Amino acid sequence: MADVNDYINGEMARFKDELFEFLRIPSVSARSEHAGDIKEAASWVADRMRDAGLSASVIETPGHPVVLGEWKEAGPDAPTLLIYGHYDVQPPEPLDLWVSPAFEPTVRDGNLFARGASDDKGQLFLHIKALEAQLKGSGNLPVNVVVVAEGEEEVGSPNLVPFVESHRDRLACDAVVISDSSMFAQGIPSLLFSLRGLAYFEIHVQGPAGDLHSGSYGGAVVNPGNVLAQLLDSLKNSDGSIAIPGFYDDVMDWDEKTREAIRGLPFDQAEFEGEVRAPGLNGEAGFSLLERLWIRPTCDVNGILCGYTGEGAKTVLPAKAMAKVSFRLVPNQDPERVGELLKAHLDRIVPPEVEVTVEELHGGRPWKAELEGPFFEAARNALAKAFGTDPVLTGEGGSIPIVVDFQEILEAPVLLMGFAPPGANMHAPNEWIPLENFENGIRAVAQFYAELGG
Ligand code: BES
Ligand code: MN
Ligand code: MN
Repeated sequence: MADVNDYINGEMARFKDELFEFLRIPSVSARSEHAGDIKEAASWVADRMRDAGLSASVIETPGHPVVLGEWKEAGPDAPTLLIYGHYDVQPPEPLDLWVSPAFEPTVRDGNLFARGASDDKGQLFLHIKALEAQLKGSGNLPVNVVVVAEGEEEVGSPNLVPFVESHRDRLACDAVVISDSSMFAQGIPSLLFSLRGLAYFEIHVQGPAGDLHSGSYGGAVVNPGNVLAQLLDSLKNSDGSIAIPGFYDDVMDWDEKTREAIRGLPFDQAEFEGEVRAPGLNGEAGFSLLERLWIRPTCDVNGILCGYTGEGAKTVLPAKAMAKVSFRLVPNQDPERVGELLKAHLDRIVPPEVEVTVEELHGGRPWKAELEGPFFEAARNALAKAFGTDPVLTGEGGSIPIVVDFQEILEAPVLLMGFAPPGANMHAPNEWIPLENFENGIRAVAQFYAELGG
Protein backbone atom coordinates (compact mmCIF):
# COMPACT_ATOMS: atom_id res chain seq x y z
CA MET A 1 0.00 0.00 0.00
CA ALA A 2 2.99 2.34 0.59
CA ASP A 3 3.77 2.35 -3.15
CA VAL A 4 0.16 3.22 -3.95
CA ASN A 5 0.03 6.01 -1.40
CA ASP A 6 3.37 7.38 -2.66
CA TYR A 7 1.96 7.38 -6.17
CA ILE A 8 -1.18 9.23 -5.00
CA ASN A 9 0.85 11.85 -3.14
CA GLY A 10 3.30 12.29 -6.01
CA GLU A 11 0.61 12.64 -8.69
CA MET A 12 -2.04 14.57 -6.75
CA ALA A 13 -1.34 17.92 -8.44
CA ARG A 14 -1.83 16.32 -11.87
CA PHE A 15 -4.98 14.50 -10.67
CA LYS A 16 -6.46 17.89 -9.77
CA ASP A 17 -5.44 19.50 -13.06
CA GLU A 18 -7.15 16.65 -14.87
CA LEU A 19 -10.27 17.01 -12.76
CA PHE A 20 -10.40 20.72 -13.68
CA GLU A 21 -10.13 19.75 -17.35
CA PHE A 22 -13.04 17.28 -16.94
CA LEU A 23 -15.17 19.91 -15.20
CA ARG A 24 -14.55 22.42 -18.02
CA ILE A 25 -16.48 20.21 -20.46
CA PRO A 26 -20.14 21.34 -20.21
CA SER A 27 -21.61 17.84 -20.49
CA VAL A 28 -25.24 18.83 -19.84
CA SER A 29 -27.31 15.79 -20.80
CA ALA A 30 -30.66 17.58 -20.85
CA ARG A 31 -29.76 20.02 -23.65
CA SER A 32 -29.34 18.97 -27.28
CA GLU A 33 -26.94 21.88 -27.95
CA HIS A 34 -24.49 20.11 -25.60
CA ALA A 35 -24.52 16.81 -27.54
CA GLY A 36 -20.98 17.55 -28.78
CA ASP A 37 -19.78 18.25 -25.24
CA ILE A 38 -21.29 14.98 -24.05
CA LYS A 39 -19.35 13.14 -26.75
CA GLU A 40 -16.19 14.98 -25.80
CA ALA A 41 -16.68 14.11 -22.11
CA ALA A 42 -17.26 10.44 -22.99
CA SER A 43 -14.06 10.15 -25.00
CA TRP A 44 -12.17 12.14 -22.33
CA VAL A 45 -13.29 9.63 -19.69
CA ALA A 46 -12.31 6.72 -21.95
CA ASP A 47 -8.82 8.26 -22.38
CA ARG A 48 -8.36 8.61 -18.62
CA MET A 49 -9.45 4.99 -18.14
CA ARG A 50 -6.75 3.98 -20.64
CA ASP A 51 -4.20 6.16 -18.79
CA ALA A 52 -5.13 4.21 -15.65
CA GLY A 53 -4.34 0.92 -17.35
CA LEU A 54 -7.87 -0.21 -18.22
CA SER A 55 -9.16 -1.01 -21.65
CA ALA A 56 -11.97 1.36 -22.53
CA SER A 57 -14.69 1.72 -25.13
CA VAL A 58 -17.30 4.36 -25.82
CA ILE A 59 -20.50 2.46 -26.53
CA GLU A 60 -23.30 4.25 -28.36
CA THR A 61 -26.89 3.99 -27.12
CA PRO A 62 -30.06 5.54 -28.58
CA GLY A 63 -29.16 8.49 -26.31
CA HIS A 64 -25.78 9.48 -24.91
CA PRO A 65 -22.94 6.94 -24.89
CA VAL A 66 -21.86 4.70 -22.04
CA VAL A 67 -18.11 4.51 -21.37
CA LEU A 68 -17.03 1.03 -20.37
CA GLY A 69 -13.65 0.45 -18.76
CA GLU A 70 -12.33 -3.02 -17.98
CA TRP A 71 -9.43 -4.68 -16.22
CA LYS A 72 -9.86 -8.43 -15.89
CA GLU A 73 -6.31 -9.55 -15.20
CA ALA A 74 -6.92 -10.60 -11.61
CA GLY A 75 -8.13 -13.84 -13.15
CA PRO A 76 -11.32 -15.90 -13.13
CA ASP A 77 -11.04 -16.85 -9.45
CA ALA A 78 -10.79 -13.28 -8.18
CA PRO A 79 -14.00 -11.36 -7.49
CA THR A 80 -15.17 -8.69 -9.90
CA LEU A 81 -16.29 -5.20 -8.94
CA LEU A 82 -18.45 -2.92 -11.03
CA ILE A 83 -17.89 0.80 -10.46
CA TYR A 84 -20.71 3.05 -11.65
CA GLY A 85 -20.79 6.84 -12.03
CA HIS A 86 -22.12 9.49 -14.41
CA TYR A 87 -20.23 12.00 -16.52
CA ASP A 88 -23.29 14.10 -17.39
CA VAL A 89 -24.33 17.10 -15.31
CA GLN A 90 -27.39 19.21 -14.62
CA PRO A 91 -27.88 22.50 -16.49
CA PRO A 92 -26.03 25.35 -14.72
CA GLU A 93 -28.85 27.93 -14.72
CA PRO A 94 -29.46 30.44 -13.12
CA LEU A 95 -26.03 31.59 -14.30
CA ASP A 96 -26.00 34.94 -12.52
CA LEU A 97 -26.04 33.25 -9.11
CA TRP A 98 -22.69 31.53 -9.64
CA VAL A 99 -19.84 33.32 -7.87
CA SER A 100 -17.43 31.89 -10.47
CA PRO A 101 -18.68 30.48 -13.79
CA ALA A 102 -20.14 26.95 -13.69
CA PHE A 103 -17.67 25.48 -16.19
CA GLU A 104 -14.58 27.36 -15.00
CA PRO A 105 -13.49 25.31 -11.99
CA THR A 106 -12.30 27.66 -9.27
CA VAL A 107 -10.78 26.95 -5.86
CA ARG A 108 -11.78 29.13 -2.92
CA ASP A 109 -10.68 28.22 0.61
CA GLY A 110 -9.69 24.70 -0.42
CA ASN A 111 -13.10 24.09 -1.98
CA LEU A 112 -13.52 23.45 -5.68
CA PHE A 113 -16.53 25.12 -7.32
CA ALA A 114 -17.94 23.90 -10.65
CA ARG A 115 -21.00 22.13 -12.03
CA GLY A 116 -20.35 18.41 -11.56
CA ALA A 117 -17.70 18.89 -8.85
CA SER A 118 -19.74 16.64 -6.54
CA ASP A 119 -22.48 15.29 -8.84
CA ASP A 120 -20.88 13.26 -10.18
CA LYS A 121 -17.73 14.04 -12.16
CA GLY A 122 -15.55 14.59 -9.09
CA GLN A 123 -16.71 11.32 -7.53
CA LEU A 124 -16.51 9.29 -10.74
CA PHE A 125 -13.05 10.65 -11.48
CA LEU A 126 -11.66 9.84 -8.04
CA HIS A 127 -12.45 6.17 -8.73
CA ILE A 128 -10.50 6.30 -11.99
CA LYS A 129 -7.56 7.88 -10.16
CA ALA A 130 -7.69 5.25 -7.41
CA LEU A 131 -7.52 2.54 -10.08
CA GLU A 132 -4.62 4.35 -11.75
CA ALA A 133 -2.80 4.58 -8.41
CA GLN A 134 -3.28 0.86 -7.79
CA LEU A 135 -2.29 -0.27 -11.27
CA LYS A 136 0.58 2.17 -11.78
CA GLY A 137 1.70 2.37 -8.17
CA SER A 138 1.64 -1.33 -7.29
CA GLY A 139 1.23 -2.86 -10.75
CA ASN A 140 -1.68 -4.94 -9.57
CA LEU A 141 -5.24 -5.16 -8.32
CA PRO A 142 -6.69 -7.94 -6.18
CA VAL A 143 -10.01 -7.84 -8.07
CA ASN A 144 -11.28 -7.58 -11.62
CA VAL A 145 -12.91 -4.28 -12.40
CA VAL A 146 -15.58 -2.99 -14.77
CA VAL A 147 -16.28 0.74 -14.80
CA VAL A 148 -19.60 1.97 -16.21
CA ALA A 149 -19.75 5.74 -16.77
CA GLU A 150 -23.09 6.85 -18.13
CA GLY A 151 -24.10 10.15 -19.74
CA GLU A 152 -27.82 10.19 -18.99
CA GLU A 153 -28.21 9.88 -15.22
CA GLU A 154 -29.52 13.42 -14.88
CA VAL A 155 -32.26 12.75 -17.44
CA GLY A 156 -33.45 9.56 -15.77
CA SER A 157 -31.11 6.96 -17.38
CA PRO A 158 -33.58 6.10 -20.18
CA ASN A 159 -31.14 3.78 -21.96
CA LEU A 160 -29.19 2.24 -19.13
CA VAL A 161 -31.46 -0.66 -18.18
CA PRO A 162 -31.46 -1.99 -21.78
CA PHE A 163 -27.67 -1.47 -21.81
CA VAL A 164 -27.16 -3.46 -18.61
CA GLU A 165 -29.47 -6.19 -19.86
CA SER A 166 -27.74 -6.52 -23.20
CA HIS A 167 -24.26 -6.45 -21.62
CA ARG A 168 -25.17 -8.68 -18.71
CA ASP A 169 -22.21 -11.04 -19.26
CA ARG A 170 -19.63 -8.31 -19.68
CA LEU A 171 -20.95 -6.56 -16.55
CA ALA A 172 -21.17 -9.71 -14.44
CA CYS A 173 -19.81 -8.88 -10.99
CA ASP A 174 -19.82 -9.74 -7.30
CA ALA A 175 -20.60 -6.23 -6.09
CA VAL A 176 -21.40 -2.76 -7.44
CA VAL A 177 -19.72 0.31 -5.94
CA ILE A 178 -21.13 3.80 -6.47
CA SER A 179 -19.93 7.19 -5.28
CA ASP A 180 -22.72 9.63 -6.16
CA SER A 181 -23.92 10.68 -2.72
CA SER A 182 -22.82 12.73 0.28
CA MET A 183 -20.84 12.24 3.45
CA PHE A 184 -22.80 12.60 6.67
CA ALA A 185 -20.80 15.66 7.72
CA GLN A 186 -17.48 17.17 6.75
CA GLY A 187 -14.85 14.68 7.95
CA ILE A 188 -17.41 11.93 8.67
CA PRO A 189 -17.64 9.39 5.85
CA SER A 190 -20.80 7.37 5.38
CA LEU A 191 -22.12 4.20 3.84
CA LEU A 192 -25.74 4.29 2.75
CA PHE A 193 -28.41 2.00 4.15
CA SER A 194 -31.07 3.35 1.78
CA LEU A 195 -31.97 5.64 -1.10
CA ARG A 196 -35.41 7.04 -1.75
CA GLY A 197 -37.17 6.30 -5.02
CA LEU A 198 -38.88 8.80 -7.28
CA ALA A 199 -42.19 9.15 -9.09
CA TYR A 200 -42.40 12.35 -11.13
CA PHE A 201 -45.52 13.68 -12.89
CA GLU A 202 -46.83 16.60 -14.86
CA ILE A 203 -50.45 17.52 -14.08
CA HIS A 204 -52.24 19.47 -16.82
CA VAL A 205 -55.56 21.23 -16.23
CA GLN A 206 -57.42 22.45 -19.32
CA GLY A 207 -60.41 24.78 -19.04
CA PRO A 208 -61.76 27.07 -21.77
CA ALA A 209 -60.18 26.77 -25.24
CA GLY A 210 -58.46 30.12 -24.87
CA ASP A 211 -57.63 32.76 -22.24
CA LEU A 212 -60.66 34.89 -21.23
CA HIS A 213 -61.23 38.32 -19.65
CA SER A 214 -61.56 37.53 -15.98
CA GLY A 215 -64.17 40.26 -15.50
CA SER A 216 -66.42 39.18 -18.35
CA TYR A 217 -66.17 35.46 -17.56
CA GLY A 218 -64.80 35.02 -14.02
CA GLY A 219 -67.34 33.48 -11.66
CA ALA A 220 -69.16 31.57 -14.37
CA VAL A 221 -66.26 29.80 -16.09
CA VAL A 222 -64.19 27.45 -13.93
CA ASN A 223 -60.59 28.68 -13.62
CA PRO A 224 -57.90 26.00 -14.26
CA GLY A 225 -55.51 27.86 -11.98
CA ASN A 226 -57.91 27.66 -9.07
CA VAL A 227 -58.60 24.00 -9.80
CA LEU A 228 -54.88 23.18 -9.97
CA ALA A 229 -54.40 24.83 -6.57
CA GLN A 230 -57.17 22.63 -5.14
CA LEU A 231 -55.69 19.51 -6.65
CA LEU A 232 -52.24 20.28 -5.27
CA ASP A 233 -53.70 21.07 -1.88
CA SER A 234 -55.49 17.72 -1.90
CA LEU A 235 -52.21 15.82 -2.03
CA LYS A 236 -51.15 16.51 1.54
CA ASN A 237 -52.78 16.60 4.96
CA SER A 238 -52.08 19.33 7.46
CA ASP A 239 -49.96 16.89 9.54
CA GLY A 240 -47.54 16.59 6.62
CA SER A 241 -48.69 13.13 5.57
CA ILE A 242 -49.80 12.35 2.01
CA ALA A 243 -53.55 12.29 1.51
CA ILE A 244 -53.80 10.01 -1.53
CA PRO A 245 -55.82 6.94 -0.51
CA GLY A 246 -53.67 3.79 -0.55
CA PHE A 247 -50.39 5.74 -0.71
CA TYR A 248 -49.05 4.24 2.54
CA ASP A 249 -50.12 0.66 1.79
CA ASP A 250 -46.63 -0.34 0.63
CA VAL A 251 -44.62 1.94 2.93
CA MET A 252 -42.31 -0.17 5.06
CA ASP A 253 -41.98 0.55 8.76
CA TRP A 254 -38.27 0.70 9.47
CA ASP A 255 -36.96 -1.43 12.27
CA GLU A 256 -36.40 0.18 15.64
CA LYS A 257 -32.67 -0.56 15.41
CA THR A 258 -32.29 1.64 12.32
CA ARG A 259 -34.40 4.40 13.85
CA GLU A 260 -32.30 4.28 16.97
CA ALA A 261 -29.09 4.43 14.93
CA ILE A 262 -30.47 7.52 13.14
CA ARG A 263 -31.23 9.14 16.50
CA GLY A 264 -27.65 8.43 17.58
CA LEU A 265 -26.03 10.30 14.68
CA PRO A 266 -24.28 13.57 15.57
CA PHE A 267 -26.73 15.62 13.49
CA ASP A 268 -26.17 19.36 13.57
CA GLN A 269 -29.58 20.94 13.00
CA ALA A 270 -28.21 24.48 13.11
CA GLU A 271 -25.85 23.66 10.27
CA PHE A 272 -28.73 22.18 8.28
CA GLU A 273 -30.78 25.33 8.90
CA GLY A 274 -27.84 27.40 7.72
CA GLU A 275 -27.73 25.34 4.55
CA VAL A 276 -31.39 25.80 3.61
CA ARG A 277 -31.87 29.37 4.92
CA ALA A 278 -35.66 29.02 5.30
CA PRO A 279 -37.74 30.86 7.90
CA GLY A 280 -38.63 27.50 9.46
CA LEU A 281 -38.79 23.74 8.91
CA ASN A 282 -41.68 21.28 9.04
CA GLY A 283 -42.61 17.78 7.90
CA GLU A 284 -44.55 14.64 8.71
CA ALA A 285 -45.71 14.52 12.32
CA GLY A 286 -44.15 11.79 14.45
CA PHE A 287 -40.83 11.67 12.64
CA SER A 288 -37.50 13.38 13.22
CA LEU A 289 -35.90 15.59 10.60
CA LEU A 290 -33.52 12.87 9.37
CA GLU A 291 -36.32 10.32 9.30
CA ARG A 292 -38.43 12.71 7.21
CA LEU A 293 -35.54 12.98 4.75
CA TRP A 294 -34.45 9.35 4.61
CA ILE A 295 -37.12 6.84 5.58
CA ARG A 296 -40.43 8.60 4.91
CA PRO A 297 -42.03 9.38 1.55
CA THR A 298 -42.87 12.91 0.53
CA CYS A 299 -44.54 14.95 -2.19
CA ASP A 300 -43.19 18.19 -3.63
CA VAL A 301 -44.36 20.64 -6.24
CA ASN A 302 -41.35 21.22 -8.48
CA GLY A 303 -42.87 23.86 -10.75
CA ILE A 304 -46.13 25.60 -11.64
CA LEU A 305 -47.10 27.31 -14.89
CA CYS A 306 -50.32 29.27 -15.19
CA GLY A 307 -51.71 32.57 -16.42
CA TYR A 308 -50.02 35.92 -16.36
CA THR A 309 -46.77 36.19 -14.39
CA GLY A 310 -45.23 39.28 -15.99
CA GLU A 311 -44.96 42.78 -14.59
CA GLY A 312 -48.06 44.40 -13.14
CA ALA A 313 -51.62 43.11 -13.29
CA LYS A 314 -53.43 41.44 -16.17
CA THR A 315 -57.00 40.43 -15.51
CA VAL A 316 -57.10 37.10 -17.25
CA LEU A 317 -58.83 33.78 -16.72
CA PRO A 318 -56.20 31.38 -18.04
CA ALA A 319 -57.17 28.54 -20.36
CA LYS A 320 -54.84 26.08 -18.68
CA ALA A 321 -52.52 25.36 -15.79
CA MET A 322 -49.69 22.88 -15.26
CA ALA A 323 -47.72 21.64 -12.28
CA LYS A 324 -44.71 19.37 -12.01
CA VAL A 325 -45.07 17.18 -8.95
CA SER A 326 -42.72 14.55 -7.61
CA PHE A 327 -42.95 11.98 -4.87
CA ARG A 328 -39.93 10.55 -3.06
CA LEU A 329 -40.62 6.93 -2.24
CA VAL A 330 -39.39 4.49 0.36
CA PRO A 331 -39.25 0.68 0.42
CA ASN A 332 -41.51 -1.06 -0.74
CA GLN A 333 -43.29 1.58 -2.81
CA ASP A 334 -43.43 1.28 -6.57
CA PRO A 335 -43.48 4.37 -8.82
CA GLU A 336 -46.02 2.89 -11.24
CA ARG A 337 -48.40 2.05 -8.42
CA VAL A 338 -48.02 5.59 -7.07
CA GLY A 339 -48.98 6.89 -10.54
CA GLU A 340 -52.12 4.76 -10.55
CA LEU A 341 -53.09 5.92 -7.06
CA LEU A 342 -52.49 9.57 -7.98
CA LYS A 343 -54.64 9.30 -11.11
CA ALA A 344 -57.44 7.51 -9.28
CA HIS A 345 -57.35 10.17 -6.54
CA LEU A 346 -57.50 13.05 -9.02
CA ASP A 347 -60.30 11.35 -10.99
CA ARG A 348 -62.39 11.32 -7.83
CA ILE A 349 -62.02 15.04 -7.12
CA VAL A 350 -61.56 16.84 -10.46
CA PRO A 351 -64.61 19.00 -11.22
CA PRO A 352 -66.33 18.06 -14.50
CA GLU A 353 -65.84 21.55 -15.98
CA VAL A 354 -62.11 21.02 -16.64
CA GLU A 355 -60.02 18.26 -18.15
CA VAL A 356 -57.06 16.90 -16.23
CA THR A 357 -54.30 14.77 -17.69
CA VAL A 358 -51.37 13.26 -15.81
CA GLU A 359 -48.10 12.56 -17.62
CA GLU A 360 -45.44 10.37 -16.10
CA LEU A 361 -41.86 11.62 -16.23
CA HIS A 362 -39.04 9.90 -14.29
CA GLY A 363 -39.55 6.91 -12.08
CA GLY A 364 -37.12 5.09 -9.85
CA ARG A 365 -37.54 2.46 -7.19
CA PRO A 366 -36.34 2.96 -3.61
CA TRP A 367 -33.39 0.89 -2.39
CA LYS A 368 -32.38 -0.72 0.88
CA ALA A 369 -28.84 -1.97 1.41
CA GLU A 370 -27.46 -5.29 2.52
CA LEU A 371 -25.13 -4.15 5.27
CA GLU A 372 -22.86 -7.14 5.50
CA GLY A 373 -20.35 -9.20 3.57
CA PRO A 374 -16.69 -8.82 2.62
CA PHE A 375 -17.20 -5.78 0.35
CA PHE A 376 -19.09 -3.91 3.03
CA GLU A 377 -16.42 -4.72 5.62
CA ALA A 378 -13.63 -3.67 3.24
CA ALA A 379 -15.40 -0.37 2.55
CA ARG A 380 -15.92 0.30 6.23
CA ASN A 381 -12.23 -0.32 7.03
CA ALA A 382 -11.01 1.68 4.04
CA LEU A 383 -13.14 4.72 4.89
CA ALA A 384 -12.02 4.58 8.52
CA LYS A 385 -8.35 4.52 7.52
CA ALA A 386 -8.59 7.24 4.85
CA PHE A 387 -10.67 9.66 6.95
CA GLY A 388 -9.30 8.77 10.35
CA THR A 389 -12.76 8.09 11.75
CA ASP A 390 -15.30 5.27 11.42
CA PRO A 391 -17.96 5.75 8.76
CA VAL A 392 -21.57 6.12 9.89
CA LEU A 393 -24.57 4.45 8.30
CA THR A 394 -26.95 6.95 6.78
CA GLY A 395 -30.00 7.07 4.56
CA GLU A 396 -30.28 9.35 1.57
CA GLY A 397 -33.25 11.40 0.42
CA GLY A 398 -32.15 11.58 -3.22
CA SER A 399 -32.53 8.88 -5.84
CA ILE A 400 -30.25 6.84 -8.11
CA PRO A 401 -32.78 4.71 -9.98
CA ILE A 402 -30.27 2.33 -11.59
CA VAL A 403 -29.18 0.96 -8.21
CA VAL A 404 -32.12 -1.44 -7.87
CA ASP A 405 -31.79 -2.50 -11.51
CA PHE A 406 -28.10 -3.33 -11.03
CA GLN A 407 -28.98 -5.40 -8.01
CA GLU A 408 -31.69 -7.31 -9.83
CA ILE A 409 -30.12 -7.75 -13.27
CA LEU A 410 -26.57 -8.48 -12.11
CA GLU A 411 -27.64 -10.21 -8.88
CA ALA A 412 -24.96 -8.35 -6.97
CA PRO A 413 -25.16 -6.21 -3.82
CA VAL A 414 -24.65 -2.45 -4.22
CA LEU A 415 -22.42 -0.36 -1.98
CA LEU A 416 -22.86 3.39 -1.86
CA MET A 417 -20.04 5.47 -0.41
CA GLY A 418 -20.32 9.18 -1.07
CA PHE A 419 -17.67 11.86 -0.94
CA ALA A 420 -19.77 14.98 -1.57
CA PRO A 421 -20.08 17.37 1.36
CA PRO A 422 -23.55 17.94 2.83
CA GLY A 423 -24.87 21.09 1.16
CA ALA A 424 -22.81 20.48 -1.99
CA ASN A 425 -25.29 22.56 -4.04
CA MET A 426 -25.92 19.64 -6.38
CA HIS A 427 -28.24 20.86 -9.19
CA ALA A 428 -27.95 24.43 -7.82
CA PRO A 429 -25.56 27.34 -8.41
CA ASN A 430 -22.09 27.11 -6.79
CA GLU A 431 -21.85 23.33 -6.66
CA TRP A 432 -18.64 22.37 -4.87
CA ILE A 433 -16.49 19.68 -3.34
CA PRO A 434 -13.74 20.15 -0.76
CA LEU A 435 -10.45 19.21 -2.45
CA GLU A 436 -9.77 17.26 0.73
CA ASN A 437 -12.74 15.00 -0.08
CA PHE A 438 -11.42 14.38 -3.59
CA GLU A 439 -7.98 13.50 -2.17
CA ASN A 440 -9.23 11.32 0.69
CA GLY A 441 -11.78 9.76 -1.65
CA ILE A 442 -8.93 8.53 -3.87
CA ARG A 443 -7.09 7.24 -0.79
CA ALA A 444 -10.22 5.53 0.54
CA VAL A 445 -10.98 3.76 -2.73
CA ALA A 446 -7.33 2.67 -3.16
CA GLN A 447 -7.41 1.38 0.43
CA PHE A 448 -10.67 -0.43 -0.35
CA TYR A 449 -8.80 -2.43 -3.02
CA ALA A 450 -5.96 -3.08 -0.60
CA GLU A 451 -8.45 -4.38 2.00
CA LEU A 452 -9.99 -6.72 -0.57
CA GLY A 453 -6.53 -8.05 -1.38
CA GLY A 454 -5.44 -8.52 2.20
N1 BES B 1 -26.42 12.07 -7.32
C1 BES B 1 -27.80 12.37 -7.38
C2 BES B 1 -28.61 11.66 -6.30
C3 BES B 1 -28.24 12.17 -4.94
C4 BES B 1 -28.47 13.46 -4.59
C5 BES B 1 -27.62 11.34 -4.03
C6 BES B 1 -28.11 13.95 -3.35
C7 BES B 1 -27.25 11.81 -2.81
C8 BES B 1 -27.46 13.13 -2.47
C9 BES B 1 -28.35 12.02 -8.75
O1 BES B 1 -27.49 12.50 -9.76
C10 BES B 1 -29.67 12.71 -8.93
O2 BES B 1 -29.67 13.91 -9.06
N2 BES B 1 -30.79 11.97 -8.98
C11 BES B 1 -32.05 12.55 -9.26
C12 BES B 1 -32.94 11.56 -9.93
C13 BES B 1 -32.72 11.38 -11.41
C14 BES B 1 -33.76 10.43 -11.96
C15 BES B 1 -32.72 12.68 -12.18
C16 BES B 1 -32.75 12.99 -8.00
O3 BES B 1 -32.51 12.45 -6.92
O4 BES B 1 -33.56 13.91 -8.12
MN1 MN C 1 -25.51 12.04 -9.35
MN1 MN D 1 -27.83 14.71 -9.93
